[in-house]
Amino acid sequence: MTAKELRKRYLEFFEKRGHAVLPSASIIPEMDPTVLFTTAGMHPLVPFLLGQPHPQGRRLVNCQKCFRTDDIEEIGDTHHLTFFEMLGNWSLGDYFKREAIEWAMEFLTNSSEGLGLDKEKISVTVYEGDNQIPPDEEAAGIWEEVGIPRERIHFLPRAENWWGPVGDSGPCGPDTEIFVDVGLKACSPDCRPGCGCGKYIEIWNLVFMAYNQTTEREYHTLRQKNVDTGMGVERALQVINGLPSVYETDLLGPIIDKIKKIARIREVAPEQVVILRILADHIRSSVMALADDKGLVPSNVEHGYVIRRLLRIAIRKGHQLRINGPFLGDFVPTVIEILGGIYPELQRSQERVTTELAKEEKRFRSTLRRGLRICEKLLKEKGELTGKDAFMLFQSHGFPLEMTVQIAEEHGQEVDVSEFRSEFERHRQISREAAQGRFQSGLADHSEEVIQLHTATHLLHQALRRFVGQDVVQKGSNITRERTRLDVQLDRKLTEDELRQIEKWVNEMIRRDLPIKRETMSPEEALAMGAIGLFGEKYGDQVTVYSVGDVSMEICSGPHVKRTGVLGTFRITKQKRIGANTLRIRGVLEAAT
Ligand code: ALA
Repeated sequence: MTAKELRKRYLEFFEKRGHAVLPSASIIPEMDPTVLFTTAGMHPLVPFLLGQPHPQGRRLVNCQKCFRTDDIEEIGDTHHLTFFEMLGNWSLGDYFKREAIEWAMEFLTNSSEGLGLDKEKISVTVYEGDNQIPPDEEAAGIWEEVGIPRERIHFLPRAENWWGPVGDSGPCGPDTEIFVDVGLKACSPDCRPGCGCGKYIEIWNLVFMAYNQTTEREYHTLRQKNVDTGMGVERALQVINGLPSVYETDLLGPIIDKIKKIARIREVAPEQVVILRILADHIRSSVMALADDKGLVPSNVEHGYVIRRLLRIAIRKGHQLRINGPFLGDFVPTVIEILGGIYPELQRSQERVTTELAKEEKRFRSTLRRGLRICEKLLKEKGELTGKDAFMLFQSHGFPLEMTVQIAEEHGQEVDVSEFRSEFERHRQISREAAQGRFQSGLADHSEEVIQLHTATHLLHQALRRFVGQDVVQKGSNITRERTRLDVQLDRKLTEDELRQIEKWVNEMIRRDLPIKRETMSPEEALAMGAIGLFGEKYGDQVTVYSVGDVSMEICSGPHVKRTGVLGTFRITKQKRIGANTLRIRGVLEAAT
């Protein structure tokens, strides 16, 4: 069955049963500023699930563009995706458990109107209950009535059979999840739906959305009892067509084929399988996100940052497949061919998306090129790339370790990764000492004045790199309520011109009232994103990264203000050389006049 046929059958099945067909909403939630992306079909319907009347009535159905990044580590397995389509039907205070389950069963098993799946392969899970909400015996009873025997009905706890809310409050409820046994061997005697081994694939979730969760985690019964359902199109197609993964469906297969063609892969080697999948997923999801009518572009904040991260991973994966020229733009027509018929914004935005992809690819490739040049120079000079070299490339140039390893391999060499790690550890130690005050770093306290000066110091650091040189590195800083003091590696004083430029730029960034964003990620990722800063944490750990708008990104443990607008006016009060290689700069914030 094709994706087109599946969508058509689902929408028609529920339309026939009184549901109004809605178009897909944007991939960016209109009414919910707390969550970046639309993660489920119910997301745009939250106000209506809470009781506001919907202009199209009480029964709705649609196919919604969804985007989830919480599973990003899982991408590459058989069925997780960052972008996916979700088919869903809703009852807004109309029908409840009985109709939802009976119709689900009919749609799954009827071969002319539905999917024609074998009833014997279907098993379900229901909510086992807790001290607040009773076990869902009602749902289990209805499942039995429609032909699922007790041994294929599993009662599971809240962690598995409760859905919602999106964000930290909103509609939610117990759910019943429908699994199909795809015929693999059981992973253990306890193998069951939800165990994750791949034998049972979840294709549909029916949520009995009768509660509202408050931000204090209290549950209130909603005025209306709703049904919210979700069937992942890609997963359903995998199961219906008996495919090994979602990547063989007509939604992703052509993207995989195109990557293979560009990378000239005839036989896929076992280690290439996951790379191909990640690449296909990330290309598709970035194109879908960029094409959304909200006009997103790659950047260092919020949605743009998520897209940038996906694209940079994609470029690195492309590199692992020896795709060296720009290639992302080539996939826009492929994605349009697959999804353009149902999401017309793809066609409308073709030119903009292609341009954005090219710009981002160019930017990241110049980082990669610089790293490659250095690798080649080192190889020529000494015939090898050491762990220390790899670390220098990584720390100073944001060049990923895996690429240094790959280049060494191409020259019949091996990078000593343990040396890379011990170098990393050594730098961590230095930064710890720095944090303990050996280099007179740190914040005097966490008062509002100190926090404001801390954010101003990030801007100052960035301004120095911008107007004096990319190699002006921070050696230490010390911030009190009165002033910031920043020591940087520089063998001279700043000129009057530079001072003026720096102050002007910092104040311009304050005037723009840029948002400050805090995130955690791996150190490799932070550096690959262009973050600057010392190492404060253990290798393999997560680091905290603070971004100021799109202009500064530093590994730092904070705290910072929320927006630059509160900072007032920044002024450099003094500069002094301390030692041959260090310049000490003092600055203050004055209340805006
Ligand atoms: N909202 C439910 C889900 O996403 C149906 O699984």
